Amino acid sequence: MTTEAIPFVDLVTPHRELENDLVEVFRTAIRSAAFVGGKEVDAFESEFAAYCGSAHCVGVANGTDAVRFALMAAGVGRGDAVVTVAHTFIATVEAISQAGAETEFVDIDSRTYCMSPQVLEEYLADCAKDPVSGRPLGRRTGKPIKAIVPVHLYGQIADMDAILSIASRFDLLVVEDACQAHGARYKSATDGEWRRAGTFGAAAAFSFYPGKNLGACGEGGAVTTNDEKVAARIRMLRDHGQARKYYHDLEGYNGRLDAIQAGFLRVKLRHLDAWNDQRRAAAARYNDLLSGVTDLVTPFEPDTSKSVYHLYVVRNPQRDQLAEHLKTLGVSTGLHYPLPVHLQNCYRDWGYRPGALPVTERAAAEILSLPMFPGLAADQQQRVADAVESWRLVAQVD
Ligand SMILES: Cc1ncc(COP(=O)(O)O)c(C=O)c1O
Repeated sequence: MTTEAIPFVDLVTPHRELENDLVEVFRTAIRSAAFVGGKEVDAFESEFAAYCGSAHCVGVANGTDAVRFALMAAGVGRGDAVVTVAHTFIATVEAISQAGAETEFVDIDSRTYCMSPQVLEEYLADCAKDPVSGRPLGRRTGKPIKAIVPVHLYGQIADMDAILSIASRFDLLVVEDACQAHGARYKSATDGEWRRAGTFGAAAAFSFYPGKNLGACGEGGAVTTNDEKVAARIRMLRDHGQARKYYHDLEGYNGRLDAIQAGFLRVKLRHLDAWNDQRRAAAARYNDLLSGVTDLVTPFEPDTSKSVYHLYVVRNPQRDQLAEHLKTLGVSTGLHYPLPVHLQNCYRDWGYRPGALPVTERAAAEILSLPMFPGLAADQQQRVADAVESWRLVAQVD
């Protein structure tokens, strides 16, 4: 058994195993001089759309652009409010602002850490109605709410049956933030089918940041949608608003996916299911190993969900001491995320105060992400579990 430090994530080994195929991607790009857009991007888009089970995929520069373009193309913009969660990476909210809209936060479910449909429903039911559109008016912003952005956090799909049914009752669009959930599945009660992230809303955003379950060789993102018009608009938005070179029908952005990223992603997409299976097996092993540890809450996976464990997140009220203890034993951990978005300095003018989102705030204070990556070995997991167990003994003595 090794006593080496256990990293939080290992991005070296999977790339070393694919080195020849990945180097070939560079060779092809250099020899064809097709660097931006082109055949590789088209091929990746078709393959990722097919993988998700979506009609269209449009590659973009990163996940933040994916959320922003998805909202804009679905019709969200200036004067609109969007409901989302504060227990997410800030990019979800940046993208809403960058689309020209304003954010309204609702709390999360304490077990899944995703948007709570109950809280969402109560929130919307209590809003005043816009006399023109009939839509609920955001309680903070006073703006008519146009869309909901559920975040499939840590690799687990939010409760989409409930969220879609609420959205349809209040006539709201749904845009999925699937940036952490490549390949995650959810079983809808309406048809009993298991469907992948990226197929539930008007559009869905993915990030291919290197540490994601499907990561590029730098930055990358994509939007999936079943709506050809939404896809066509995103193709324009990502490319300076042009559908024909130098004829700009709208003001767009430089938000394209480049060919090397697409080629890289094509090679790695073939391994995504196997890697996700390894993550799921590692999560099951952690669940077993940690089941006896008092005061440690392991992740909750509803029967209708197959998480892809982008992160394996436990919780404990003494999270900081536990993290410190693990560090001294060579176990790296992460915090996703220590300060919820509604309490970030950059949004202090929005007027949210501590206590505004109690479930979110408590989670932020207690969560701890343990090492999780494909290839995490059973003996490494045993060492993590032993380290957690030894902390419990120390904590009891204190
Ligand atoms: C939930 C969520 N949304 C959006 C993003 C933004 O993606 P990117 O970093 O590719 O812009 C991320 C990436 O970290 C994320 O985790």
